Amino acid sequence: MGQNEVLFERAQKTIPGGVNSPVRAFRQVGGVPRFVSRAKGPYFWDAEDKRYIDLIMSWGPMIVGHAHPEVVEAVQRAAETSFSYGAPTAGEIELAERICELMPSIEQVRMVSSGTEATMSALRLARGYTGRDLIIKFEGCYHGHADSLLVKAGSGLLTFADSTQNAPSSGGVPQDLVKHTLVLPYNDVSAIEEVFKKQGDQIAAVIIEPIAGNMNLIKASPEFLSAIRKLTSQYGSVLIYDEVMTGFRVALGGAQFLQGISPDLTCLGKVMGGGMPMAAFGGKKDIMSKLAPLGNVYQAGTLSGNPVAVASGLKTLEIVSRPGFYECLTGQTEKLMAGLKQAADEAKIPFAVDSVGGMFGFYFADQVPTSFEAVTQTNIEAFKKFFHAMLDQGVYLAPSAYEAGFTSIAHDNEVLDAIVAAARASFKQL
Ligand SMILES: Cc1ncc(COP(=O)(O)O)c(C=O)c1O
Repeated sequence: MGQNEVLFERAQKTIPGGVNSPVRAFRQVGGVPRFVSRAKGPYFWDAEDKRYIDLIMSWGPMIVGHAHPEVVEAVQRAAETSFSYGAPTAGEIELAERICELMPSIEQVRMVSSGTEATMSALRLARGYTGRDLIIKFEGCYHGHADSLLVKAGSGLLTFADSTQNAPSSGGVPQDLVKHTLVLPYNDVSAIEEVFKKQGDQIAAVIIEPIAGNMNLIKASPEFLSAIRKLTSQYGSVLIYDEVMTGFRVALGGAQFLQGISPDLTCLGKVMGGGMPMAAFGGKKDIMSKLAPLGNVYQAGTLSGNPVAVASGLKTLEIVSRPGFYECLTGQTEKLMAGLKQAADEAKIPFAVDSVGGMFGFYFADQVPTSFEAVTQTNIEAFKKFFHAMLDQGVYLAPSAYEAGFTSIAHDNEVLDAIVAAARASFKQL
């Protein structure tokens, strides 16, 4: 038995499923999860000292590569002065100022420790601000695991607006807590128009992944986004851009910069902490001022604005702000996708690719999907085989066909060539 298997067996005795976050358990693809012992740049090594090219990068945060020397130094320096104070620091102000500069829709920002906290708090704030209960989310979008967001829609246009048809998609979530969540299809303009026409004055917020990365990568169409912006403004609902994944990953100014949309609130995480537990939500000052201690919407955190995480985030944002960073990252990611597509074409395998900045999707399908339903119709069996063939050759993809992939600035030409060579061999095995 290999070391990964030994560790997996041991882990399962004291950790449910052997993992601290479900998708790590390889349930969709089967097999033994790799236990990581160390990482550097675009690589990590598992418990058997096998090296992998990492195409998850901690599900997004490690955009400058693992253990970047400048980030390591900043973190070490911060750690020497204690890990946490539970009192304000100058570093937090610097990070808040930088975020507001980079995303002009954010006038004020509150730091938290995870993306889940950011979205959960943004929703509470939107409800407190509007005095309304209903929220709209879209099918296939993931916004963390707060109760009211773990909900699936009933099917059919008429049930869109009928929250009693919603079923929680997790045990332990009372129907009562999801009855205020309406789930609509992504990229469907008429569905959202219909709901606003019926219930617009009751809708506190629309929350969206503006480039979805939790049902593989799916881009929102410009018509869809402008309809959402128009309707939320017209009805006084809060538009929440969940940029936990896309923020500082698709562009320095996030998806909102690329799309030319100014949301009312934005949720951030992942890259903004450079791999440390750090996230935030922010936006218009008149909404943010409803938060305690100024307003009556309560939100707090013992480790919020943690000084070591702030140091990691500030240094990461400094590195990504250097000239040419996103041009290079985007170019490398596009080159990788073109290489994978060419390799699939040579093997005559139906395959489509897409990417934005350092985030990518590939699909065993003829076309890039534009909805959750379309993603579920891609060839999942082919994905599973491809995943394992790539893993055997030392390329670590997300262990699910419903996840986006992530590159870093450390994924240079040599790394890309190695990935494409592995893909060429893997496609032949399908
Ligand atoms: C778009 C989006 N929002 C929220 C979250 C939740 O963030 P966290 O896992 O840090 O709680 C995620 C996590 O993947 C995400 O992708």
